Amino acid sequence: MLFKNGILLSQSFLLISVLSLTLMKTETGNAKPVKILADTLFLKSLGINPTLSDSQLKLSIAEVSEYQADTISHAAHKFHKCGGFERLPDSENMTESFASMRQWRAQAQAFEFIGNPIPNVEKKTAIDTATKQVSEENLLATVRWLSNYPSRYHKGNSKHVEDLAEKVKQMLLGVTYPYQIELIEHTQTKQKTLRVHLQGKDHPDELVILGGHLDSIVRMGGVAPGADDNASGSSNILEALRIIATQPQASRSIEFFWYAGEEGGLIGSSEIAQNYKQANANVIGVLQLDMTLFPGEGELVIGDMTDFTSPWLRNYLKTLNNFYVGAQWKEDECGYGCSDHASWHRQGYAAVMPFEAVFNTMNQNLHTPKDIITPELSFKHSAAFAKLAIAYAMDLSNSTLKPTF
Ligand code: BES
Ligand code: ZN
Repeated sequence: MLFKNGILLSQSFLLISVLSLTLMKTETGNAKPVKILADTLFLKSLGINPTLSDSQLKLSIAEVSEYQADTISHAAHKFHKCGGFERLPDSENMTESFASMRQWRAQAQAFEFIGNPIPNVEKKTAIDTATKQVSEENLLATVRWLSNYPSRYHKGNSKHVEDLAEKVKQMLLGVTYPYQIELIEHTQTKQKTLRVHLQGKDHPDELVILGGHLDSIVRMGGVAPGADDNASGSSNILEALRIIATQPQASRSIEFFWYAGEEGGLIGSSEIAQNYKQANANVIGVLQLDMTLFPGEGELVIGDMTDFTSPWLRNYLKTLNNFYVGAQWKEDECGYGCSDHASWHRQGYAAVMPFEAVFNTMNQNLHTPKDIITPELSFKHSAAFAKLAIAYAMDLSNSTLKPTF
């Protein structure tokens, strides 16, 4: 890892120097620049001058060429989770986004100050029954199927996205729940995001969102099976949809996402979260599942990422875990916007990311051809995340709770 909490680790210094030279040598040319958001120190060490910086958040915006953006993205992955790097939609007003991120930080501190109050929620039989329908065999079948595509990289073909859309169509045939399936186009990638909307009965405009990224990437070349990263979270979301779609229609709407281009810098989710914000969408919560198969801290020990997430939603999920899953909870942080929850967080929405382990004990095969199904992976462990997703979606879509921070 190169950066965690703004600390540049020395063993990466050489690689950083080589990378800076590569980046400096490259002309920006006439092509339209790409706006990126990254750790200030990371950008500066690459010799890139930010166009806007936030000293409190230690984050900066820079304009780079498409080539540079790709090089930095690959470098960030090569350095194994470092720096953080997001491609921003052209139209995003970053002064506003920085302000909303600072506000979140202040609210989180205030929340802690008043003692992290637990939301008022009760255990419900219907949810307990639904979580018990999660099938480890279904999860295995989906992960096996997705990780058999040579790659799901966002610059390659989109066969896996179309195939998943077809699978979802077949799965929902005959359900009485009113639903829409949609492939969402993006401006920064040809790949599409798949969204399934289950219409709410009383408050259809109030949205309970859950998702994970469907794309994959490989650091050094070769195939990019992405079994853990992130066929696992994708399979959890699919299993949650299968079970929730057979429930009575909830009060609020529920939306399921399989995002495009996360590995290219949260491309799909940034555009979507920004569009939701511009449309003033009433998002109650966002659950992100990214890597749920490798029990690095032991089976049923879940890492709860405390940065770029909402303390209110984290407490809520922890309460649901105690009712329906019984996993052990360990707090940790990525140190940067490591997955799609960060896109929603930046727009001021409440997000949460339960994770397979803590940062240091996560699956080390991510972004390599070795991210395949192996005996170290546990579908029992992964099933806990599908259960959490079901409990979250069913409870929050039938409640009147609203995030205040
Ligand atoms: N699955 C990882 C995210 C992750 C890494 C979560 C470590 C928790 C701990 C994700 O797919 C990923 O690779 N993210 C990139 C950053 C993204 C902004 C391109 C990363 O971590 O390098
Ligand atoms: Zn990844």
